[in-house]
Order: sequence, then structure tokens, then C-alpha cells
Amino acid sequence: MCGIVGYVGKKTAQDILINGLKRLEYRGYDSAGIATLDEDANPHCARSVGKIAELEKVLAAKPHEGKIGIGHTRWATHGGVTVNNAHPHRAGDVFLVHNGIIENYKELKAKLSDHEFKSDTDTEVLAALIDSYYKGKATLADAVAKALSEVRGTYGIIAFSPREPEQLVVARFGSPLIVGLGKDETIIASDASALLGYTRNAIYLNDGELAICTRDDIDLRNLKLESIKAKPEEIQGDAEQIQKGGYDHFLLKEIMEQPTTLHNTLSGRINVKQGTMRLGGFNLTPKELREIEHVVIVGCGTAYYAGLLASYYIEQIVPDVTTEVVIASEYRYRSFHLPKHSVALIVSQSGETADTLACLREIKQRGAKVFGIVNVVGSTIAREVDGGSYVYAGPEISVASTKAFTSQVATMLIFAGMLSEAHGGNRETIAKLATELDALPDEIAKTLETCAPIMKELAGKYCKYDDALYLGRDTAFPIALEGALKLKEISYIHAEGYATGELKHGPIALVDSTYFEVFNILKGRLFEKSIGGLQEVRARGGKAIVLTDAPESLDIEADDIVRIDTKFELLTPILLNTLQQLFAYYVAVARGNDVDQPRNLAKSVTVE
Ligand code: AGP
Repeated sequence: MCGIVGYVGKKTAQDILINGLKRLEYRGYDSAGIATLDEDANPHCARSVGKIAELEKVLAAKPHEGKIGIGHTRWATHGGVTVNNAHPHRAGDVFLVHNGIIENYKELKAKLSDHEFKSDTDTEVLAALIDSYYKGKATLADAVAKALSEVRGTYGIIAFSPREPEQLVVARFGSPLIVGLGKDETIIASDASALLGYTRNAIYLNDGELAICTRDDIDLRNLKLESIKAKPEEIQGDAEQIQKGGYDHFLLKEIMEQPTTLHNTLSGRINVKQGTMRLGGFNLTPKELREIEHVVIVGCGTAYYAGLLASYYIEQIVPDVTTEVVIASEYRYRSFHLPKHSVALIVSQSGETADTLACLREIKQRGAKVFGIVNVVGSTIAREVDGGSYVYAGPEISVASTKAFTSQVATMLIFAGMLSEAHGGNRETIAKLATELDALPDEIAKTLETCAPIMKELAGKYCKYDDALYLGRDTAFPIALEGALKLKEISYIHAEGYATGELKHGPIALVDSTYFEVFNILKGRLFEKSIGGLQEVRARGGKAIVLTDAPESLDIEADDIVRIDTKFELLTPILLNTLQQLFAYYVAVARGNDVDQPRNLAKSVTVE
């Protein structure tokens, strides 16, 4: 979603702003802009539609020299993708960039008849509101604080004015902002990745905080402008992690690095010899773990599917615990009831997803403990949960989530193992889970290596289709859902995931020679039943690709079969998913799509 960068220091602001915006490109955007103040405090603003390269062309014709400025990548919410709707917005002496949504902007706009609006955005309304209070002796910070007290909605903002040319005023409610403290410079960004390489020392703004930032000082306040003590923290990660590392796309890099990132997820958490598992961050005593009767898992998109898969395993290995998996955007508005002894797992790669965060708060209010399964260190969800674990997958830049999914599932499986132990679950099963988790990075490496060329070839064969169904039973069902999501996100092929047993209840009506079906089939107790679904599809002219761990001795008739060789009994679905990831990637490449930044999508969905 939208990205924000601000700079005040001794260097040319334009360079830092553009570099920062490029680091935030992965979040998804459709226009970009910067505004700066030159040495004589004259404002300059440049905006353009499309990629940052377009903005660079504008700036190449007329470079900005100033040492203070703000920049923004916009993902359209209010108003179309036009230069006028791009940020920064100006009202009088106020220049503003904004992430989030001002819900009461129409009401506020009606009161601002003096301002001639040039855009359709809620942000220009906020700029005009700030300007309306920026009169007489009021400072920019006074005006910002006053305006924000009237606003309903979410925001992360940076404002500046030629009247106070040495400062940026920054404020946050519901949309992240991080203030990086450098030597003789202050850099602000909506995402820590824009600060990497400049400073590791940063203040993560909390909701309701405002900061007046100069080159060498941060004055942190609440919205009543009372002083607050700032607690600088260290930014994790390094600039190398956000490079493509020789791959054509971040997505391929992130698929291929799963053995390493998963190793980081598991490191220090599994003891194969003892057959035990621990997640330190859960800070629950064995008694508290024993008392858990109900686990609700909350997420959106891929995070939801990771939760769904984990729930199958929790049910299998933990006696007497009920598991419920919910879509955050629905759950937050449902009249849900949490039985006594419930805990919630809040699953989010970015740690900023608005709906997931809202659920966290609702659940907390109802008195249940909330635990985060989060990738981005220091993100809002990670800061608001009662405990939990980072999944340590490292920065995930491509919009389509791959390595984070695998690490989320693995982290929740460790939680399942801990829970099972506390609830007197079968020791052998827990030990088997520990052994398979420990071996998972190597099994994934083997699968990726042997199957990447096969999936590439298959992608060439199926890339021209317009429709696909993904099917699976049991633990392969959430994998089918995830496979369909991945394909549609980056290839734009219409793809739906279904439980194989649901075919006859509707989707089979779609099957003809224009569709292809991806069957995830596990050997084991439901093998025959899965084959039944496959035969039904083939009998109706559907083209079928089968992804399976079944050996050659188990006869399967399909158009294409990809068999993986593994001794796993529990975690095969995760291996099958890596095949789906490769397939979606190669199909998207074959169709000539923007793989890392697919149309209309954003990496971190910070608005409802
Ligand atoms: C995954 O490929 C998607 N882009 C999307 O579904 C994503 O998983 C979802 O928006 C949740 O994001 P989060 O994990 O950052 O909360």
C-alpha cells in the first residue's frame, strides 16, 4: 500500500526520497511524488502517474536541490490514478503526504469552503484542515494536532511548511511510521526497509503520537502536544536482504531461499533427540498451556490459509482443543463469542494488516490472550500482542507471499507440538513432527532443485488457459486454496481452490476442456477418494495436473503428474505447495506480467 519517506539533513533530499520510495515500491502503488524546500525555503513539488521511473524523468528535467522534503507512493483509494490525486498535496503553506483513510473527509470538506480543492482525495482535505488552523501564532505542530483531533480514520502523515523550513511534523494513528535517527539527519519512513543503510537507530511511533523532526532532534509529543519520552530501538535486517541477489525477480529469490529462511524459523526451537519443541515468545507456563481449550487463528489471504493448514495439524495432534480459523475482515464485525480458556493466534507477515490488527484489539478487549505469528520485526501487531513469535523469514519483498507462508505454518506447528505436549498428546506423533520439521528445509531444497525445471515446462504448457481449479483433501485442501490464490495474484488467470469432495456440489459444472485442474493428492487414507475426484474431472474433458507424493506403484491417470520423493508422513503438503509456488511464478513470467508488483495489489494492506 502507500509508502511514505521524509528527510531533513545535510544531503540532497531528492536522492534520499527517491531511493527510499524505490525501497517501498514492493508495497504496491500507482503514482508517486515528492516535495522539497530549497535553501531559500521555496517549495518544489513533482508528481507523476505510474512507476517511480516516471517521477525520475520529471525530476531529471528539473532536479530539486533542497535538503528537506517528503515523498510518497500512492495506492489509489479516494479518486482515480491521476497526477492531481498523487501526493504530496498542498493547501496554503502546508505540504502533506498521508497513508491511511480519513473517514469523515466529506464532513470536514464541507466546512472548508475557503479552499479550492484540486483533487478527489481525503488527504487534500486533511491538508486544508491543517492549513485552516495554521494562522497567527500557531505553529505547524499546533495546526496538525488540532486538525488531527477532528479526524476519524487512520493516518501516518508527514507535513512541512516554508514558514518553518527546518522541520517535518510527523504523526501516526493506525498507519506505521518510523523515525530514523542518523548523524546530522533524520529519515522518516512507513517501513523500516527504507531506512536500511542509513541508520539502525529509530523511534517507532505509536498511535496518537506526533513528532517534530529536525536535522538533529526529535521532539516527541501526544496529540495534546504534551512531551513523551522517546525510546529508540534498533532496526533489524540489512540492505542485502532487500536485493534480488542475482535472481530475475524477488519472488523467485524468495521461493528459492525457503530452505534458509525456514532454517532460521526453526533454529533453537526444535529438539529432535528429545522430540520436543519450544517457542520462547509465548511465555505461557505448562499449566497455562494445559488450560487452553480453544484456539482461534486470525489472518487474511495467505496468512489465513497458513492458519487453516495449521488448524488441521493442531486437531490431529492435540487432544481436547477446539480450533477455529477466521478471516479477519469478517471476524472483526461478527458477534463472536470466545469460550473461557481461549487464546488467539494473530497471523500476519507484515504485522500491519488493518483487519487483522482490528481483530487483535477486539479479541484482547474480550479478555483472551493474543499471540502474534508475525514476520516484520517491530510491526504494529508484534507490538500489541501479549506474546508470540517472529517467524524470521526475513524481508519479503514480492507482493505474493511464499516464504512467509512456509515459516508461518512451521511456527504454528511448533506451537501445536508445545500444546500437544502440555495436553498429554501422543509422544510419538510429537516426536515425528519434530523430526519432520527439522528435515523440512532439506526436503524443500531437494523438491525445489528437482522440480523447478518440471514446473517451468508445465507453466509453458498451461500459461494460455484462462481458468483453473485447485483441489485437495484434508491437509492438501488449504494448500489447494493457497495454490489458487498464488496463481490468480500473479498470473491473473482465474483460479479457485476447492476441497475435492466439494466438486460434485457445484464446481464440477465448470469443468470442460477450457479449464485445467491442479490436484494435490496425498498418498495415505484419502488417496482413493482423491483419485475419484480426478476421474470425475477427466471424464468431463478437464485437463488435470497431479501433484503428489504417491510412488509410481500407485497408478494415477492424468495429463501431467509431478511426483515428489519424500519419506514424510505429516508435512508433504508444504512440499506440494512449493511446486505450486514455482508453477505460479513461471506462468506469470510466461504471460509477461509484473511478477513482484502485480496489478491492483499491495504488500501491506493497512486500510480496510
Ligand atoms: C499473499 O500472497 C497476499 N498478497 C495476501 O493475501 C496476504 O497474505 C494478506 O494480505 C495478508 O497479509 P499479512 O500477512 O501481511 O497480514
